[in-house]
Amino acid sequence: MAKGLVGQLLSEEQIAARVREMGAEISRDLAGQSVVVVGILRGAFVFCADLLRQMSLQTEVDFMAVSSYGDATESSGVIKIMKDLDTPVEGRHVLLVEDIVDTGLTLQYLKGYLAHQRPASLQVAVLLDKPTRRKTAVEVDYVGFTIPDEFVVGYGIDYAEQYRHLPYVGLVGEQNG
Ligand code: IMP
Ligand code: MG
Repeated sequence: MAKGLVGQLLSEEQIAARVREMGAEISRDLAGQSVVVVGILRGAFVFCADLLRQMSLQTEVDFMAVSSYGDATESSGVIKIMKDLDTPVEGRHVLLVEDIVDTGLTLQYLKGYLAHQRPASLQVAVLLDKPTRRKTAVEVDYVGFTIPDEFVVGYGIDYAEQYRHLPYVGLVGEQNG
């Protein structure tokens, strides 16, 4: 049996409403600050673009691209930086924007990497949290949705580079036929 899209977990409307709330909360918390928003490619590109437009703050935007040496469904925690920041973040307020925190190993690595550059502050926003698979107690400041241990796609998130274009978050599973 082949794996494919089997359903919807979060609708376009649910995501939009939650991203609006997150943008407002972040804007309240970081009011008056100039923020470097760091999106993690590729999965967070849609979330990052939407979240930015719900934030009433002075922002700069940069991206990092990382890949994990693991198997297809679980990261190993050994992260390779494919694209580094172009913006120096020493002394800056940084908001790291990631798609999913699962084992937590990717985010833990990225937080350590950025903290090493001595930002004035470092906050983390993730769209989806799968807490049941956590291997390390990484702190996340803003969580969009806490979800069960299911493989999800859409809204920027892929399965084998497919489904990033979906406007909603869908579920991948075994398909008949
Ligand atoms: P972690 O290091 O295990 O926390 O892995 C987080 C990364 O794994 C995310 O940034 C995603 O790239 C990927 N990932 C985890 N769960 C899923 C999923 O359900 N669908 C697609 N990618 C996922
Ligand atoms: Mg990712």
